[in-house]
Amino acid sequence: MEHPKLLEIFRQNEGKYLSGEEISKRLSISRTAVWKQINKLREEGFEFEAVSRKGYRLIHSPDKLEPQAVLQGLRTRSFGRSLKIVEVTTSTQEEVRLLAEQGTPSGALVLAEEQTGGRGRQGRKWFSPPRKGVWMSLLLRPERPLSFAPQLTLLIAVAVCRAIRKTSGVDAGIKWPNDLLVQGKKVCGILVESVSEDERIRYCIAGIGIDVNVEAHELPADLQAVATSLKIESGRNQDRVALITAVMNELEDLYTLYEQEGFTPIKHLWEALSVTLGKRVAVKTPQGEISGVADALDESGALILLDDKGMPFPLFSGEVHL
Ligand code: BTN
Repeated sequence: MEHPKLLEIFRQNEGKYLSGEEISKRLSISRTAVWKQINKLREEGFEFEAVSRKGYRLIHSPDKLEPQAVLQGLRTRSFGRSLKIVEVTTSTQEEVRLLAEQGTPSGALVLAEEQTGGRGRQGRKWFSPPRKGVWMSLLLRPERPLSFAPQLTLLIAVAVCRAIRKTSGVDAGIKWPNDLLVQGKKVCGILVESVSEDERIRYCIAGIGIDVNVEAHELPADLQAVATSLKIESGRNQDRVALITAVMNELEDLYTLYEQEGFTPIKHLWEALSVTLGKRVAVKTPQGEISGVADALDESGALILLDDKGMPFPLFSGEVHL
């Protein structure tokens, strides 16, 4: 954002008129400079009402992610506090990988308005059009063995699902391990990439993609039948900043709960939000396709399938077809 200070003043005085003189004093710049900055913001889509002898009033902000708005909504200790927002990038996963390798501490968050090479699980592409979604990656440095990664993935799915329900009212559910569905269609995907050394995690990159304000006709043809957005499901535009901050707040709360009480409470929350449990599913695994009834999560985070003879079969990864 080019003029954060000017915007901050308008945001702090929501609905009020601010005179050019007052702004110029507060920012220690000339009145001409104030006028130029306001015009620049108008070009970016901000709308100001100008009334003689009263001044300017901000009446509309374009749907653009601004760091100060995100920071204001956070009630976290570390998640999202170190924040980078980029207009366009190949993938936020790569942005965070660079930060991680530079030694950036846990909790750093990168948000993009648009991704040109958004990545999904199993080498798939992730559709990430400008300003229509939440495309973000969070750096985590859990001091844990690599076997912790599947539990972390499930924990993230719970956090995002709760945040979506709270902010949009949309009834999202979790498909094992971490797709979020609404009425059978995918609204969010999560990609956790872990870098380890000697079986211990060095860092994890938690990538979260939420289709927020994508319209039905904007979805590529191959996604029309299988994907949806919060706007399509709720019938109204959704506030991306409220969603982002809710995800960070939920995520840090659950992470703290996990550190204090282990996986059991997370497992119960996951089970309550699951759309997979109790259903007959077919799962593609590296060993071939297995079908059965999804019965429960075990303490490690594996999905227990009961085959036709009632024999339990733990699944650690794979693609579930409901
Ligand atoms: C999936 O369901 O296949 C996972 C999709 C993950 C998409 C997110 S968007 C932000 C981050 N950057 C990426 O390139 N991918 C993840």
